[in-house]
Amino acid sequence: MKRISLIGATGSVGRQALAVVAAHREALKVVAMAAGARSLPDFAQSITTFSPDLVSVPDSRAASELQKLLGTKANEVAIHHGEEGLELVATHNEAQTVVTAVVGFLGLKPTAAAIKQGKTIALANKETLVAAGGVIMPMVKQYQAAIVPVDSEHAAIHQSMHGYGPQDLSAIWLTASGGPFRKWSNEQIENATVEDALDHPNWSMGHKITIDSATMMNKGLEIIEARWLFDISPEKIRVVIHPESILHSAVEFKDGSIVGQLGHPDMRMPIHYALFYPNRVESTIVPRLDLTKLSKLTFEEPDFKRFPCLKIAADLASEDSTRASVLNAANEIVVEAFLKRRISFGTIPKMLSSVLERHKSISKPSLDDILEADRWARQEAESLLHAAT
Ligand SMILES: NC(=O)c1ccc[n+]([C@@H]2O[C@H](COP(=O)([O-])OP(=O)(O)OC[C@H]3O[C@@H](n4cnc5c(N)ncnc54)[C@H](OP(=O)(O)O)[C@@H]3O)[C@@H](O)[C@H]2O)c1
Repeated sequence: MKRISLIGATGSVGRQALAVVAAHREALKVVAMAAGARSLPDFAQSITTFSPDLVSVPDSRAASELQKLLGTKANEVAIHHGEEGLELVATHNEAQTVVTAVVGFLGLKPTAAAIKQGKTIALANKETLVAAGGVIMPMVKQYQAAIVPVDSEHAAIHQSMHGYGPQDLSAIWLTASGGPFRKWSNEQIENATVEDALDHPNWSMGHKITIDSATMMNKGLEIIEARWLFDISPEKIRVVIHPESILHSAVEFKDGSIVGQLGHPDMRMPIHYALFYPNRVESTIVPRLDLTKLSKLTFEEPDFKRFPCLKIAADLASEDSTRASVLNAANEIVVEAFLKRRISFGTIPKMLSSVLERHKSISKPSLDDILEADRWARQEAESLLHAAT
């Protein structure tokens, strides 16, 4: 029986992780869970279904509300809250694998705490590596922890590399659907609405990553994530637009052989892979791909001009500096402002560039430098927003 902690249980990845657990009750057990305060009734329902012994929510008010929602079930579970609660979930002594399915920088501290306990991280929260890859990866080595990626592209690369190392690769082909604006003109993209941007052609995901997919910042963040995860120079990471989202990414070996992983665009597949790694276990819920039904797979060059966010992230991907943390933090603030209709879609890359221009970068940052850069970037982005709206 593999015991699991799940951080972000009510979100898109979190719910799909629970679906995988539900399909494999004989092999997987959730011992601890954390969620935000937006879907407490759903969280209470999941607690009743999966019976973890420890849970956490953001604050004491959410904790009392959850207690009420749980009724007598509340006697069987320890309810914690805040940063401490999140850390308790991440470090539950029985958990072997910790699924990090929260959005944003919030994932960094619990992930670091779980790594220090030598846990395996099923990493969905890419922002942890984007902001702090230079600190996190050495910690993984030091504490003999492991990261198994949940992001579908990185799960594909992980599977394709199996048994080989960065020294064997000449390239990583990182696929991107191109998002909802793949065929839109510059002018149309500039004025895209929230509804347009949330209308992803292939994937159903949380709001922040869906907007990141529309700007293509998501692919830029994934270059940085891949660089740290696979210890490969970003110059060797080639983004390729693949609108069908069937090839989830591929690696090109030095001898010219390209090995990739295919499947329907369904997050339960990489989640299943990460939860059972290193074993391959039969799944009854992951949809099967019938190769005879595939008519064609298409590939295109990305357009860095129409998608400046991709260029902003790709340009700093080779650095080990606070600039990636600043980009990550400012992006969280600016995307939230777009979702609240405070700024236009076209303003997103402009504000990110402005924040980066004002930042005094520190190279080879410590965790404290990263925390400070994150704080500074949020404040800076907020003041730019204040001035503009
Ligand atoms: N969605 C995908 O298909 C997908 C694919 C690849 C990678 N990822 C990555 O996976 C991560 C999660 O994405 P998502 O789309 O699943 O996001 P999401 O749907 O927005 O879910 C976020 C989760 O975090 C919880 N949360 C918020 N504040 C919290 C707090 N203070 N403490 C504990 N939990 C908190 C939310 O709870 P409430 O909503 O209940 O408040 C929710 O359960 C992101 O880093 C994303 O880039 C996602």
